[in-house]
Amino acid sequence: MTILYDSNRGCTACPLSEGCKGPVPAVGLETSKVMLIGEAPGRNEDIKGEPFTGDAGQYLDSLLDSVGIRRSDVLISNVVKCRPRGNRTPTVEEAEFCATRWLDVEVEMFQPEIIVPMGRVAIQHFLGDVTVEHVHGIPAGKVLPVYHPAAGFYDTRLMRAIQEDFQALGKLVNGETQSAPVDQHPDPDYVEYENITGKSFSSGDRPMMAYDTEVVDNKLWSVQASGVTGTAGFFPGMDQPAVKGKAVVHNYLYDAQWIDLPDSTDDTMLMAYLLGLPQGLKELAWRLCGMEMQSYQEIMGDHRRRKGLLYLSEAAKHDWPDPPDLTDVIWIKKDGRLGSVTKKPQHISRKIKRIIADVVGGKENKDGPVNPWTRWHNIDPRERAAVEEQLGKMPDASLEDVDPDTAIRYSCRDADATLRVYQVLWPKIQELGLEFTYQLDRQVLPVAMSMMQEGIALDGEFLGILGRHYMELMEAKAEDIFSLVGKRFNPNSDNELRVLMYEYLGFKPTKFTETGLPKVNKEELSKLKHAVVPMLLEYKHLAHLKDSFCDTLPGKIDSHGRVHCTINVTRTETGRWSMKEPNLQQIPARTEYGREIRKAFVAGPGYYLAAIDYSQIEMRVAAHLAQCQSMIGLFNEGRDIHTETAAQIFNVPLDQVTSQQRYPTKTMGFGVIYGLTPHGLYSQMAQEGLRD
Ligand code: URA
Repeated sequence: MTILYDSNRGCTACPLSEGCKGPVPAVGLETSKVMLIGEAPGRNEDIKGEPFTGDAGQYLDSLLDSVGIRRSDVLISNVVKCRPRGNRTPTVEEAEFCATRWLDVEVEMFQPEIIVPMGRVAIQHFLGDVTVEHVHGIPAGKVLPVYHPAAGFYDTRLMRAIQEDFQALGKLVNGETQSAPVDQHPDPDYVEYENITGKSFSSGDRPMMAYDTEVVDNKLWSVQASGVTGTAGFFPGMDQPAVKGKAVVHNYLYDAQWIDLPDSTDDTMLMAYLLGLPQGLKELAWRLCGMEMQSYQEIMGDHRRRKGLLYLSEAAKHDWPDPPDLTDVIWIKKDGRLGSVTKKPQHISRKIKRIIADVVGGKENKDGPVNPWTRWHNIDPRERAAVEEQLGKMPDASLEDVDPDTAIRYSCRDADATLRVYQVLWPKIQELGLEFTYQLDRQVLPVAMSMMQEGIALDGEFLGILGRHYMELMEAKAEDIFSLVGKRFNPNSDNELRVLMYEYLGFKPTKFTETGLPKVNKEELSKLKHAVVPMLLEYKHLAHLKDSFCDTLPGKIDSHGRVHCTINVTRTETGRWSMKEPNLQQIPARTEYGREIRKAFVAGPGYYLAAIDYSQIEMRVAAHLAQCQSMIGLFNEGRDIHTETAAQIFNVPLDQVTSQQRYPTKTMGFGVIYGLTPHGLYSQMAQEGLRD
C-alpha cells in the first residue's frame, strides 16, 4: 500500500503516543473518492506503520472485495493515529484531540467524495453524538457511517448488518444514489382524549391498531393508540383497559402487563428480531420510516436539571459534617503488592455550591449544559451519604413533570411509529416466507406472559436449610485452604484473595479490573497453577450459590409462595429466551450443588413439574441445513453427536468418553453455529479447568 505522507511516527501531543511507535498515517490511492476511517491502530498496525493490516484488515479486504472494491483503490485511515495501550477503545476526547491534528488535515488534503467512518468513535467524529445502531448504512451527506468490521468478531449477529453496510458502500461507489427514508407525516396529528366510553379499545373496521403504554411510578399513566399512520390518540388515566380486534405493539411482554391485549397481538420487536434488525423502536422508526423520535432522556433533560437544582439548593442551606477520608485499595506494580491511598475530598458543601454555580452560570459541557443530576452522581457515594441520608435521594423527573403538549407528542409518537414500522416489517416477513416462523414465535408471547404472571412455586424453607448446609461446607473448605497455604484470610474478600495469590504466593497478575486491581475472577484464578486454585473455585462456587440463590430467592417469594421473573424472548443470539430479576437460568445444572438448588422449585398442589427438552435441536437443524450426510446418518441411527465427536477428537473408544471430554465438544458444536470465537472457547474451557 502507498503510504501517503511521512508521519515520522513522531507526535507527542497527547499521552497516547507513550507506549507505541507513533502515529500511523493514511494509506492508499491519493486520488480515490472513497476514504475509509477506522478507530485506531492495533498491535500489527503499530509495528508495520500501516492501518488495517491485522485481522480486522483482512476482514475489511473481504468486505470490500465482496462489493467489487479493491483496497488499493481507496484511502484508509484512522480517527486516532496512535495505538492506545492494551488496544482499548479511545475516548471521544482522545479522538477529537487527535483528529483535529491528523485526520481532519488528511480529509482536507485528499478531499474524498465518500467518507466512510467505521465504528462508533469514527462515526461520532463526523456525525456527533449518535449511535451506530441508529445511523449505520444510511448516507448523511458525504458521510456513509458503517459498522466497524471487527464488531462482527465480538458479536456475530452484526455480521449481516456489516455486510449490508458495505453493500450500501458498493452502491454509492457505483453512483447509485441512496436516500434516507423520508418521514411521510412530518406534521402528525396527535390528540388527547379526555374520556373514553367504557374501558376498552377496538380496532373497529381498521386493518390494525397500534398501542403503546406509558407508566409512571409503577402505574399505568396513559395509553396511546394509532389506527391511521401520522395520527394517534392519547388516553390518560386508564386502568388495565381491554383491547379488541387487530392489535400491534412494540414489546408485547411489557405492554401486556398494563393492558389486556388479545392473544393474536402482533409485536414489531419480535418481527425485527426475526429479520435480524435492531430491536429498538427509535432505530426502526428512523431507519425504516425516516421518523425522528425524541429519547426519554431528551424529554426529561430540563426537568431533571430543574429538580436536581432544587435539591442541591435545599442541600446548600444545611451544614454538613466534614467529609470522610476516602481510602481506596491500589495495586503497586513495581512492588507487586496491594497498597492504599487515602484522600481528603473537598467539603461536600463546596462541591454543591460549585455545581449550582455552573448550572446557574450556564456552563456548557461537550454534550450540552451542565447537568446537576450527572454531576451529583459523579461524586463518590461515600461523600454524598450524609446529604442523601437527610434529604433522601435526588428526585428524578417523570412524564408528570413535562408540559402536556410535549408529553402527548412524545407518547403518541411511539404508537404512530409502531403502526408505521409494522407496515414495513410485515411485508418483509411475507417476502422472506417467514410468516409461519413468526406466527410460531408470536403465539408463544401470551404463554411467556402467563409464565411471568403465574411465577413458579418455591420452597423457601428448603433453600434456607440448603444455604446453611452450603455455609458449613464453605467453612470446612476454608479450613482446608488455610492449612494448605499456611495462613488464615477471608476468602470472601477479593482484596484478600489478591494478597494471597499475587503477593503471598507470588503469581504475576496479567488482567486488571477497571480500577487497576489484579482480577481474581474464576477465569483468571483458573490460569494459576496451584493446588489451592480448585479449592478456592469450589469455595467461590458455593458462596455464589448461597448468596445469589439460597439467601436471595426466598425474599422474592410472593404471598402465594411463588417467584416471578421477567422473560425476554428477543435479543439472544441463539433465539433462546433469557430472563432476569431473578435470572433462574443461571442456576448451574452441571454441578451437584447447583442441581440441589433446583430441587427448591416445586409444583403447586395438584400439579407436577415436567422437564421437556428437544434433543440436540440446533445440531439437527444444522445437519439438515448443511445437508451433512455424516451428521444426518448419526442422528438417524440415534447416536450421540457430542460423544462421537469427543471420541474422534480425543482418540478414545466411544464407551470411554468422559463427561469432561464430551463437554468441550458440545460447547464447540454450538460455538460453530453461533460464532463462538477462539478466545470465547478458550475462556470457557479455562473456567471448566479443561485447559492445559
Ligand atoms: N486496524 C486499524 O488500523 N484500525 C482499526 O480501527 C482496527 C484495526
